Amino acid sequence: MDLPDRKLLVVEDDPGLQTQLRWCFENFDVEIAGDSETALKILQQNHPPVVTLDLGLPPDADGTSVGFGLLEDILQRAPHTKIIVVTGNNDREHATRSVAMGAYDFFYKPIDADMLELIVNRAYRVYELEEENRRLSSQHTESPLEGVITGSSGMLQVCRTIEKVAPTDATVLVLGESGTGKELMARSLHELSTRGDGQFVAINCAAIPENLLESELFGYEKGAFTGAAKQTQGKIELANGGTLFLDEIGDMPAPLQAKLLRFLQERVIERVGGRKEIPVDVRILCATHKDLHELIRVQQFREDLYYRIGEVSITIPALRERESDPLLLARVFLERISKQQGKQGHRFSKDAMAAIENYAWPGNVRELENRVKRAVIMAEHKLISAGDLELGGTSAEELATFNLREIRDRSDRKATLRALNHVGGKVSQAAELLGISRPTMYDLLRKFDLKPK
Ligand SMILES: Nc1ncnc2c1ncn2[C@@H]1O[C@H](COP(=O)(O)OP(=O)(O)OP(=O)(O)O)[C@@H](O)[C@H]1O
Ligand SMILES: [Mg+2]
Repeated sequence: MDLPDRKLLVVEDDPGLQTQLRWCFENFDVEIAGDSETALKILQQNHPPVVTLDLGLPPDADGTSVGFGLLEDILQRAPHTKIIVVTGNNDREHATRSVAMGAYDFFYKPIDADMLELIVNRAYRVYELEEENRRLSSQHTESPLEGVITGSSGMLQVCRTIEKVAPTDATVLVLGESGTGKELMARSLHELSTRGDGQFVAINCAAIPENLLESELFGYEKGAFTGAAKQTQGKIELANGGTLFLDEIGDMPAPLQAKLLRFLQERVIERVGGRKEIPVDVRILCATHKDLHELIRVQQFREDLYYRIGEVSITIPALRERESDPLLLARVFLERISKQQGKQGHRFSKDAMAAIENYAWPGNVRELENRVKRAVIMAEHKLISAGDLELGGTSAEELATFNLREIRDRSDRKATLRALNHVGGKVSQAAELLGISRPTMYDLLRKFDLKPK
């Protein structure tokens, strides 16, 4: 299906090759550029999705410096362009360098018209798919809450709940593993509430030593203890008219739990060393990654406090439980971080995408953000691989299949190998470990071409 409106930019300085290429791509809307400047002009005007690029361009027609410079410029300005680099016969080094820099593919001279057309067609196809993908994921990012990126149904449900409870004055308990976005959600809730113009005051109950936490929360009068040089407001008072976010509430020591409970019942505080009751109007939000039910069971958390702080409780799903979110977030972070670092045009390689989708993300969104950031800073090229993300292990090829038999075969082979390694290659013991008969074990060995000692 060669539609004549499919734009293709051919960057080639040799007049003979120019003619040959125009002829080879008669089904495309071809523009030809003989130098960098013309190429960039056409890029800006026509936005061709696919470009073929000869590395040897004037004034360095015998070298590659101008070609590589142009490759970088194009990807900088139009990062989604599929660039097919045309290099000298068997010039592997430059070919691989091009791909590492973000080129889509390469092609060795002399030009074989059929082959090149095939590659260009495929590049178009990939471009169109990616375009579609971008369109879909940008729809997905339209989460109801600002700054929250998600396409997963579980998270969208969480966002809706937050929208619903925000305008009320209910205390909200945000639960979820570390790095899932508990604080981000608490902030969104505050922003959406009628207190949005007031302060959002956060305090991490796990980070402050027990003996200081009380005065941090409730404030103190001058002379209340050694070092209390002047009257000081606590976080609760500071949040007056706004929201107080008690992070890691599961780590709050028992005596303070009692005092907090009293505040939630009476809505007045007493500063440490003070006698006056001060009324405070504050919305309380709490978060923890701990299992409060378990803490209640072992009597480390007050059940009555639990019901007070959790008038509504919201559980944020772990990243691995959110359908397409890992890749969606990774892409958004990649774009954001590479922009911040002033080095746009980064992309994930296939193996990186597969690794992102398959990794369990124990540190959730925070871990994902950190890995992408590290990769952008450390990587010497634009194509971010699984290795750059420090996600080794399973290869793209291995993950690409949905074929059940293939998946089973692979896991059977792995288990067989593990068992053999475990027992030092002794077939009968390995069979026992695997819970299969010796003949079945030999079948497996033959099938997977394994040779135990
Ligand atoms: N859905 C999301 N979209 C965009 N950024 C997110 C999302 N979820 C989390 N983040 C970002 O991930 C990081 C961690 O989020 P946050 O601090 O809210 O998590 P947390 O659950 O409070 O973590 P911890 O348990 O470690 O305190 C922050 O930089 C936050 O902005
Ligand atoms: Mg947090």
